Amino acid sequence: MAFTAAQIGAGTPDLGDAPLSLTPFLSPDYFAAEREQVFSRSWLNIARGCEVPKPGDFVVRDVEIRHASVLVVRGQDGEVRAFHNVCAHRSARIEWRRQGSCKLFSCPYHAWSYDTEGRLRGVPGLENFPTLDKAANGLTPIACEVWNDLVFINFAAEPPQSLREFLGGLLPFERDYPLADMDASATVEVAVVNCNWKVFLHAFLEAYHLNVLHGRSLGNTFNPPDNPQGDPLYYRAFGRHGCLTIGANLERRAGPMETLSQRHAADLLSTGGKARASAYEELGSGTRLLNPTGAANWALEGVVLFPNVMWLAAMGSCTLHKVWPLDLERSRFESITYYPRPRSVSERFARELRFALFRDTIVEDILNTEYSQQALRSGAKRHMHLQRGEIAIRHHYHQVDRVVRGETAHV
Ligand code: FES
Ligand SMILES: [Fe+2]
Repeated sequence: MAFTAAQIGAGTPDLGDAPLSLTPFLSPDYFAAEREQVFSRSWLNIARGCEVPKPGDFVVRDVEIRHASVLVVRGQDGEVRAFHNVCAHRSARIEWRRQGSCKLFSCPYHAWSYDTEGRLRGVPGLENFPTLDKAANGLTPIACEVWNDLVFINFAAEPPQSLREFLGGLLPFERDYPLADMDASATVEVAVVNCNWKVFLHAFLEAYHLNVLHGRSLGNTFNPPDNPQGDPLYYRAFGRHGCLTIGANLERRAGPMETLSQRHAADLLSTGGKARASAYEELGSGTRLLNPTGAANWALEGVVLFPNVMWLAAMGSCTLHKVWPLDLERSRFESITYYPRPRSVSERFARELRFALFRDTIVEDILNTEYSQQALRSGAKRHMHLQRGEIAIRHHYHQVDRVVRGETAHV
């Protein structure tokens, strides 16, 4: 089976088959351009709304490529906002916890305080600041919008387009794949990986390697006999984003532990085959975003959210793989799986089994991508050769390149 034009959605540019330069993984200038053009102007998924459910709830997240600590907080008015976590007095980091809840943020240096809407409220010794305009010295806001319970930020002072414009054709996912009830989470891995951020992200953008690199962990879960290379069932570009439809191997025989867990709880992702096809009828009927070809062996949609997220939208869970650049050859990997709260011990058991398997595959990816970066650095090769089924990588590579070369980050 070959991956053909019939499996590519309208609106997807023809990107050819040419080998691609390795410069974007190795050039400091390219990385500097990514900082300015890509990560300073795109909408970036930074948190989930369910992480800050009540007024005063906050999380703090680092965006290292921007040297930024970002405070995401739900105000007393219920609105989710983002601010630079920086004090107006002498630029101390205000909130040192990763998450919490409060009515006022108090700077640990000299106790200036800010409310959850970012206004400067308290200044000890105010009489000694004769020129200070309190109203003009609140927390510095970062553009922030929420879609489908995903909180996005944009570092541009005036983003060139709204989040909804940026998401474009992906917007119906909010209707077809609502995240609101998937509020339990498991962070499978948070790791610093010694490779360029794109090298690591691209490891999640194809199924060609799954039964090879992950032969011992995943085996042929996504590589059925009639599609041994794991070609995508379908690929569609949505502006700078992409959507990769991945099929499962319905003939696969699960191991004893998996069989046991499946007997007591619905499968999360990749092993339930036939059960999934009927579940799809219930959840996904009528939509063409999930399972666009109506395949009986549909496993998941892999949504590449430009620039740095691979969102695996499966039946009973969703995983957000986020790759944050630290520097040219170091990245921070965050992988969070969301799922409905387990209703029984059996369901919990099935989930834990799945996460253990998932963690194994990620370790395999980390070792491989770190070796790859070292190999890239050696100069032994100047190009990489993508096969047609690796179309999501080619599309992402080109989208980053176009933005780096001066196209605006917006779609
Ligand atoms: S730096 Fe925050 S109060 Fe002084
Ligand atoms: Fe992998």
